[in-house]
Amino acid sequence: MFEVAILGFGTVGSGVAEVIDRNQKQLLREIPEGVHVKYILDLRDFPDSPYNDRVVHDIDIILNDPEIRVICETMGGKEPAFTFSKKALEKGISVVTSNKELVDSLGGTLAVIAKEHDCSYLFEASVGGGIPILRPLRTSFAQEFITSVTGILNGTTNYILTKMETEGLDFEEALKQAQDNGYAERNPEADIEGYDPCRKIAILASLVTGGNVKYQQVPCEGISRIDKQDLAYAKSLGRAVKLLGVCRHDEETNEVYVRTAPYMVQEGHPLYSVNDVFNGILVHGNMVGDLMFYGSGAGKLPTASAVVSDMVECIQNMGRNIDIGLKNTDAVLEDPEEYCERYFIRTGEEDKDRIAELFGDAIEYVTAPASGEIAFVTDMISCRSMKEKTAKLSAFKKAIRLL
Ligand code: HSE
Repeated sequence: MFEVAILGFGTVGSGVAEVIDRNQKQLLREIPEGVHVKYILDLRDFPDSPYNDRVVHDIDIILNDPEIRVICETMGGKEPAFTFSKKALEKGISVVTSNKELVDSLGGTLAVIAKEHDCSYLFEASVGGGIPILRPLRTSFAQEFITSVTGILNGTTNYILTKMETEGLDFEEALKQAQDNGYAERNPEADIEGYDPCRKIAILASLVTGGNVKYQQVPCEGISRIDKQDLAYAKSLGRAVKLLGVCRHDEETNEVYVRTAPYMVQEGHPLYSVNDVFNGILVHGNMVGDLMFYGSGAGKLPTASAVVSDMVECIQNMGRNIDIGLKNTDAVLEDPEEYCERYFIRTGEEDKDRIAELFGDAIEYVTAPASGEIAFVTDMISCRSMKEKTAKLSAFKKAIRLL
């Protein structure tokens, strides 16, 4: 048996044990000796769990056992996850994780340590839950220059927006349903303010460019200010509001534009039909064109399945590093204020005369506006220009980007 250890026996960690046990037969096809969870590290004991006899409270028991050659870190948070992962990698033990916070902040550092010690640091489950996306980027796109990645990367907010759109629920009602169904993070702020998808697009942008993109560098806006009227406007434009992580990679300059924000997505676009808790990630390679990845972006077993897929790859590559192309250098970011997009804008009727003066003739007015409002769509303008112009509208309400 190939012995592994799980650090953190929460939702994903216990899911990893379940995937390994329930799908041992499937794993045997890839790992003929079989895979066995020898240790589970947690502060707690689990007297009612069949795994309780494997629970330990001291990381050194795991790190000093020569049988352990792969560790699965599902603790979450930066510490002690970083220290434990670093110590393991320095001993040549590969680490697989779903911990997007750690990957986003110190993934490059850990990837370099893994390389120096002929082992691997993989984190497929940190983006898109069960959807294979990081491995395809590294393998299937090896011959490609990836020009863009655009994703619905948060199931909770996609569920909320879908409920608001299809059942006419208010934001608060839809959020409550998401919480009742167990979708929202412990702190719903991470989902609804966009921090969770922002970390995920930062990880994707890092892999696309090979340099680190930290989520603090990524402009981030969630869906808490989206209301039912926005969805009605989107519908009248043949669009749906989606919270997107966007990464545009310039083939000539190698600069990358990254953002998380709500967008009005055109009907017919592959992301338009991604509803409920599902995630969808559209990748464009300069040779292959568009490829779409779709599936469960969250949940115990889908996420655990992605962790175990990394485990399998590590076991199959024992003694050598799986190069994920991440260096410990910073990516070159394009100034997001200068990036040009089209905007949907809502303002008060009193701004009627100022609109054409500020935005020119290329604007399209949206019919059936809410009472007392004017709504229109701009031509391509920079974020800086949009902010300067809307600051001159006396009754400006909001701007939403178009895709
Ligand atoms: N809360 C996240 C989501 C799942 O709703 O997509 C974990 O990343």
